[in-house]
Amino acid sequence: MPNAYKVLSHLDLEDLIDPHQEFALDVLVGLSETPKRLSSRYFYDDYGSQLFQKIMDLPEYYLTRCEFDVLKRHKKGIADLIKSKSFNLVELGAGDGRKTSILLEHFLKNKYDFTYIPIDISEGAMKILMANLDRQFPELHADGIIAEYFSGLKWLRKLTDRRNLVLFLGSNLGNFNKPQSRVFLRNLWNSLKDGDLLLTGFDLKKDIDLMRRAYNDSKGITREFNLNLLRRINRDLGGNFDLTKFNHFASYHVFSGAMESYLVSREKQVVYVDALNHAFDFAPWEPIHTEYSYKYLESDITDLAEATGFEMKAQLYDSKRYFVDSVWEVQKISSVDEIPD
Ligand code: AVJ
Repeated sequence: MPNAYKVLSHLDLEDLIDPHQEFALDVLVGLSETPKRLSSRYFYDDYGSQLFQKIMDLPEYYLTRCEFDVLKRHKKGIADLIKSKSFNLVELGAGDGRKTSILLEHFLKNKYDFTYIPIDISEGAMKILMANLDRQFPELHADGIIAEYFSGLKWLRKLTDRRNLVLFLGSNLGNFNKPQSRVFLRNLWNSLKDGDLLLTGFDLKKDIDLMRRAYNDSKGITREFNLNLLRRINRDLGGNFDLTKFNHFASYHVFSGAMESYLVSREKQVVYVDALNHAFDFAPWEPIHTEYSYKYLESDITDLAEATGFEMKAQLYDSKRYFVDSVWEVQKISSVDEIPD
């Protein structure tokens, strides 16, 4: 059996926080605030993850096809950026591995000495991924880690000192605002070694109608995805949200530079959540903010790399230049002439 996945067994911070309690607390805080808000991180239960897979297949959701194009066009360029003979190909949040298989195939065909190490919090997703890989690439050496990203990386560091190429595909950073993305990237920098590479996806600013259509698809899958937050509150916390009484609304905000998603109450209503022992009042047309999907300028990306201790190595575009996979190198040793006297 070439592929196996490992479960982190040592005690970590995440074991001390009950995820159910955390969700309950976030819902209580978010729905008590004005304006009301819920975090997009709660979209991804099993059903939500399934819906996101469907979103990636939608013709309007250009991001996925653009990134496929990037990886196909630049797989050789990416391979050339890795200077070591043997390395780990680490992936944060691999999903079903459809995009990654472009790189896996290229690396295997060219006899690179590497281990594929996906890190994902969902055991279900990891099982499916590993089964797919086993079928598609029987010669691949893969070790999955079921853990939060940073616990997984910490564990990996104890295990091997090979060079890492870390993939953070999609435009997942886009859910964070600027300060949040700096914290995330600095944490990542801290978990990696000098010379390690990070390949991360950014959706670029472009024609507003095109972006709006990607988050307002004609099949209503994105609407379902957004409503899944309320469905999850009903199921996990005993809420009584009537999903037909909320509209999906997603729009581009030129000042924040983000697609922003909302659920809007169609009427005055009261929603009760059992686990919180609390009733929430909704005024007619009152919104709940549910997601930011930030869009970037090239200069935003350069600034972000520099601010968090990375050196930009390459900007890899799709043919339409809608999307970029940016390759950064971890810089830990500053050269002498940079130290002021
Ligand atoms: C998974 C965060 C990249 O923001 O485009 C898709 C999630 N939301 N449609 C994005 C999403 C609505 C997606 N990311």
